Amino acid sequence: MLDLYEKSKFIDTHSHIFREYYDNIDEVIKEAKKNNIDKIIISGCDLKSNIEIIDLIKKYDILYATLGFHPTELNDFNEDSIKWLEEHLKDDKVIGIGEIGLDYHYDNTDKQLQQDVFKMQIALAKKYKLPILVHSRDSIGDTYNILKDAGVKGDIHCFSSSVEMANEFIKLGFYIGIGGIVTFKNAKNIVEVVKNIDLNHILLETDAPYLTPEPYRKYKNESKYIPIIAKKISEIKNIDINDVARVTSNNAYRLFDKLRK
Ligand code: NI
Repeated sequence: MLDLYEKSKFIDTHSHIFREYYDNIDEVIKEAKKNNIDKIIISGCDLKSNIEIIDLIKKYDILYATLGFHPTELNDFNEDSIKWLEEHLKDDKVIGIGEIGLDYHYDNTDKQLQQDVFKMQIALAKKYKLPILVHSRDSIGDTYNILKDAGVKGDIHCFSSSVEMANEFIKLGFYIGIGGIVTFKNAKNIVEVVKNIDLNHILLETDAPYLTPEPYRKYKNESKYIPIIAKKISEIKNIDINDVARVTSNNAYRLFDKLRK
């Protein structure tokens, strides 16, 4: 893949590169660098992954973190969780709060708890002037209603709604996270979103280990596949892949103040 993307420097703005999913993180990082991935943001989901992240960002220069509690991982969530989160937000390489949000996909979810925890974490983001990395599944209306007056900026990761909703979030100061789904055969909806919004509002992401782009779907996702996603965006928008790299990386630096060039 290297030749084609020789000049491009990419940022993977959302991933879960944890030991739970990868036997050899050294190799994942090495492969990412080989494929011109400049920075990788890893996002916490529960206390265990958040604690691991603190260790990983010390070990690997390329890794930066967002810490947070994911809406489907709230079984162990309690007051101490929020205290722990607040204590770790001042770390140099902790650049935002996430992955946070709402997920109504499963029938057994406690929507009230999800909304309360989402709002608590938004309040911290506001207090510490940090961007948020938002997960929204089957919940775009409630997500929008909570964010519209929240006074925070961020990224709607793995965006899966309409062009109209994308524009509403952009008006609030949010970026639209585009990942492997854009390469899938049934990705009509996301292709429309990419076509109709300005590149200045798009961030590249893998959500690794999930959502590997075509034609590598049988493998576990890794940051090294980011150029495949960028290539697809460059085809949809009929522009050079190096422009996709440059503009989306600048977008990441603009959103995440603590992500250093
Ligand atoms: Ni994720």
